[in-house]
Amino acid sequence: MRQLRASERAKGIEYAIRDVAVPAAELERQGHRILKLNIGDPVAYDFDTPEHIKEAYIGALREGKNGYSPSYGIPSLIDAIVGKERSQGCDVTTDDIIVGTGVTEVLQMLFASMLSPGDEVLIPGPSYPPYTSYVRFYDGTPVSYHTDEENGWQPDLDDMRSKVTDRTKAICVINPNNPTGALYEGSTLRAIMDLAGEHGIPVISDEIYDKMTYEDQVVPTAQTGSDVPLMVLNGISKVYIAPGWRIGYVAFRDPSGALDDVKDGVQRQARARLCPSHPAQVAFQAALEGPQDHIAQTNRTLMQRRDIALKRIGEIEKLSSAVPGGAFYMFPKIEDPDLQDDKALVLDILRKKHVLFVHGSGFCTQYGKGHFRMVHLPPPELIEEAFDRVEEYFRERP
Ligand SMILES: Cc1ncc(COP(=O)(O)O)c(C=O)c1O
Repeated sequence: MRQLRASERAKGIEYAIRDVAVPAAELERQGHRILKLNIGDPVAYDFDTPEHIKEAYIGALREGKNGYSPSYGIPSLIDAIVGKERSQGCDVTTDDIIVGTGVTEVLQMLFASMLSPGDEVLIPGPSYPPYTSYVRFYDGTPVSYHTDEENGWQPDLDDMRSKVTDRTKAICVINPNNPTGALYEGSTLRAIMDLAGEHGIPVISDEIYDKMTYEDQVVPTAQTGSDVPLMVLNGISKVYIAPGWRIGYVAFRDPSGALDDVKDGVQRQARARLCPSHPAQVAFQAALEGPQDHIAQTNRTLMQRRDIALKRIGEIEKLSSAVPGGAFYMFPKIEDPDLQDDKALVLDILRKKHVLFVHGSGFCTQYGKGHFRMVHLPPPELIEEAFDRVEEYFRERP
């Protein structure tokens, strides 16, 4: 048989987070215990989906919500999403919402709809890898803008401004950010919206970690500029601790209708892929409308763990970290001017000490190198044990 080759576009897709999991799985097969600080999934540690949300899912199955749903989402969930967005100052109606199989699918549909060959998208450097992968997949050019580690990884407005061109199709913000945990200041967001408005560029605002914050709260991007066409992304994965259920949405806040055609392109794709999971949509509605008590508890736990990790990082001469204001990530810097290859270092720590991180260059070759991403999701004793080993590693490293 003739060997079929994968397309160049498929080969261009990389996902650093899962790539390093392969050698870790091999070590596990050999019987080693790996301490995993690489997975952005609270359920992989000691967090769980709140009971009332699980009950809603089970109830949906029993009530026969097992057929296809409307392609853009069930009306009662769409109403709940409109309610959430409007309560945060994002002026949308039911026609502006499209529910998908997670933010990641929605992002894919957005880029598929808006990009032609050579179009550019401004993406925070470093950022969640599908932003770069999907822009490339749809023949666009991802352009990373600098986020400033010295300033808590806030977007660098001068750099962003210098990278706006006639081909810029969107500016993306991720707040709080993956992989840095940065919580963006309201003044920074206002400046981004002003820049976008000046050039007539829409903004994509990924707010999937919006309620997972520590000292301060998220300023929803919608509140920082009312005229700029905006696509807000959110879902059930993080705040409601159910990433395996795969539900997310885009809300088009678009008073001038500038995004009508893009929205039409997303709706066409949504119809062609039939619908997102029906029972999971019922559960997401329950999550949005039901008790929110678990959020404060989760944040308290995460903040304790963040502080343990920061203390341990501070005690290792070769490491430093900015203080994350939200999400559950930090992005420590490896203080070694001679370091050439952060992936090799992460794999070396894995091989020698059986602790798994993700290399920083996997989130941005330019602005992520020389770092690694870790989650502070594990229980305190696991974080302590991981850093005992990491401390030992840097002591022994020539
Ligand atoms: C910034 C960001 N957006 C989206 C996602 C994934 O969202 P979903 O599970 O809804 O696809 C992640 C997951 O890590 C993320 O970090």
